[in-house]
Amino acid sequence: MRNLKLEIDIQEYSSIDELDAVDRKLVEAAIEAQKGSYAPYSSFNVGAAVLLEDGTVVKGSNQENAAYPSGLCAERTAMFAASASNPGKAMVSLAIVGGFNGTLSEGPCSPCGSCRQVMAEYQTLGKRPMSVILFGTRQTLKFSKVDDILPLIFDSFNEK
Ligand code: THU
Repeated sequence: MRNLKLEIDIQEYSSIDELDAVDRKLVEAAIEAQKGSYAPYSSFNVGAAVLLEDGTVVKGSNQENAAYPSGLCAERTAMFAASASNPGKAMVSLAIVGGFNGTLSEGPCSPCGSCRQVMAEYQTLGKRPMSVILFGTRQTLKFSKVDDILPLIFDSFNEK
């Protein structure tokens, strides 16, 4: 038996102004997307923006439903819309923002496990790393690839 340790590279920013211009624009798009959030049950409004390889930005927000499991997270709304409207274009970056009642959280808005799994699939499909930016007004974290936020990724290609 051997103990293994995972080492993950994370970039930390203390303000949106520290981000480079491309990342800042994507976070701003996610903030814009948050306005489309429909979250009457949780009051937690999430916005996401996906940057495609050709520069297209696709936005999404969480959409809730009286039948709770029928709702969908912002990240998956954005990624599914991006894939549906731009099939075959790699997703190079995803920014996420969130907060209660339309505010922005101070800490990084972290994606759920299902959204991480969907990120993994599109990263594999795009054949290039997808960076993930978790925005918070006081702390923003950037992961340069999905593997860093979802270690030991399951994908069906592993089974070959
Ligand atoms: N939510 C997201 O949009 N993304 C996540 O990664 C986690 C949670 C939404 C789902 C629900 O509408 C609300 O936040 C509260 O869970």
